[in-house]
Amino acid sequence: MMRITRRYRFSASHRLRAAGLSDSANEATYGKCANPHGHGHNYVLEVSAGGPVDPLTGQVLNPAGLDALVNRVVLRAFDHRNLNAEVAEFAGAPPTTENLARQVWRRLSESWPQAFPGGPRLVRVRLQETPRNSFEIMEGE
Ligand code: NI
Repeated sequence: MMRITRRYRFSASHRLRAAGLSDSANEATYGKCANPHGHGHNYVLEVSAGGPVDPLTGQVLNPAGLDALVNRVVLRAFDHRNLNAEVAEFAGAPPTTENLARQVWRRLSESWPQAFPGGPRLVRVRLQETPRNSFEIMEGE
């Protein structure tokens, strides 16, 4: 079993606001991220796949195949977007990096079997919002 991790970058803006909280509670919860005019982040996304090394190619997976999948289902939807206004999933849920990481996982999981039939599994998504802040989802957790 080998694990491969590839790193991607995208930029997006958001405003954090929980509909069920007052303005002051939102500010207490999200701090600067509650700014009504929004702000941006340069996100760093890591996607890890795990499986056996193919004896023929010497690879766990074809990196170009992973790049194509991530581009198609993640980067195209999120890069240079206003997450609140342009991504349907965030019409009803605050675009925290926790929720963003969940959406990345969901989108990748849905398309994974078709992209890598019988191949390596999606085992980890890590999304870094700032150098001080990152969130991870692991397979089976
Ligand atoms: Ni923010």
